Amino acid sequence: MNKMKGAILPGNSTVELKEFDIPKPGHGEVLIKMKSSTICGSDIRCIYHEHLGKGPEGYQPGRIAGHEPCGQIAQAGPGCRRFKEGDRVIIYHISGCGLCNDCRRGYYISCTSPYRRAYGWQRDGGMAQYLLAEEKDLVFLPDELSYSDGAQVACGFGTVYEGLEKIGICGNDAVLITGLGPVGLAAAMLARAMGAQKIIGIEVLEERIQIAEEKNLFDNVLKAGPENVRQVRDLTGGAGAEKTVDCSANEKARLTCIQAARKWGKIVFLGEGGTCAFQPSPDIIHDQKTIYGSWVTNLWRMEELVERLVRWGLHPEDLITHRFPLEQADEAYALMASGRCGKVAVVFDEELK
Ligand SMILES: NC(=O)c1ccc[n+]([C@@H]2O[C@H](COP(=O)([O-])OP(=O)(O)OC[C@H]3O[C@@H](n4cnc5c(N)ncnc54)[C@H](O)[C@@H]3O)[C@@H](O)[C@H]2O)c1
Ligand SMILES: [Zn+2]
Ligand SMILES: [Zn+2]
Repeated sequence: MNKMKGAILPGNSTVELKEFDIPKPGHGEVLIKMKSSTICGSDIRCIYHEHLGKGPEGYQPGRIAGHEPCGQIAQAGPGCRRFKEGDRVIIYHISGCGLCNDCRRGYYISCTSPYRRAYGWQRDGGMAQYLLAEEKDLVFLPDELSYSDGAQVACGFGTVYEGLEKIGICGNDAVLITGLGPVGLAAAMLARAMGAQKIIGIEVLEERIQIAEEKNLFDNVLKAGPENVRQVRDLTGGAGAEKTVDCSANEKARLTCIQAARKWGKIVFLGEGGTCAFQPSPDIIHDQKTIYGSWVTNLWRMEELVERLVRWGLHPEDLITHRFPLEQADEAYALMASGRCGKVAVVFDEELK
């Protein structure tokens, strides 16, 4: 048995299951038995419907998809220094060159070397029975966390934690989150753990408003609309939220994040693509506001996030509403594309519960 099944995304809103050779780990590499592989909004936006992405977001046709992988090391190649067979691991989903300044800061995501390859984009990702990874891209998964907790750390939760650290969340803050897909829900979960006492969410899809309410992560969930800025001000003593987080990539929601932030407020954009028009003087300059952009996270912060999830007793898998076996990966992607769900996972072995 040296063959395995893996899912590729042809770019016409379908998923193809193909047979691949089970890779053999070379020097400094490990072979991982996949346990959980969650779907990110970026997979839908850049790959599933159409191969839209360029450069670091360019999907190489025929690559196994999935950039939120988590599993157990089945075999460690020669020269591995820290990780060994049996270890439970999260794969930081970009393999940077390891040597440039961005990589030395831990931001493999920002590496521009031709050696940079992201799992599920330019090298094979997690939607298969096995995944070949470089040891340097691994983060230990503590026993307290499940593989489906870990998978979401690989992109979504890592991204959110980085963005929230950039704007700094504490008990003083009212936090506004726009776009309540998995990333927006993760933002609420982490903002609460970091001390936020008032969390307001805005979403356009009815199903997702319902999920956000059921998960009990927000103090108020608003339907997206032209009154949003006034509504947020009304809920925050007339002044607006100290911190705002866009997880929608929608132009109007981004403007709401800017305008519903109070004076001296900090805004972070996580949602990717699209555009945003605002008037610099009234919208940011005169109110002393700051807008941050944030792309994924670095390796050390991902390790710290994992440690804190355990300390806080948080389980990212609570955001998963649907689990599918690899054979039904097509249903998993179609569901995520419909938006009628929370987080969607493709799972293996004990995670198939
Ligand atoms: N910055 C990064 O490093 C990074 C990493 C991962 C994902 N992302 C991006 O984050 C975004 C969210 O990811 P996700 O997996 O939750 O995707 P998603 O597409 O499931 O979620 C986006 C949500 O925004 C909602 N939305 C659309 N218009 C809105 C509006 N006007 N007001 C309020 N909500 C609105 C959608 O209905 C949807 O529920 C995506 O754009 C994704 O590409 C960025
Ligand atoms: Zn992602
Ligand atoms: Zn590099």
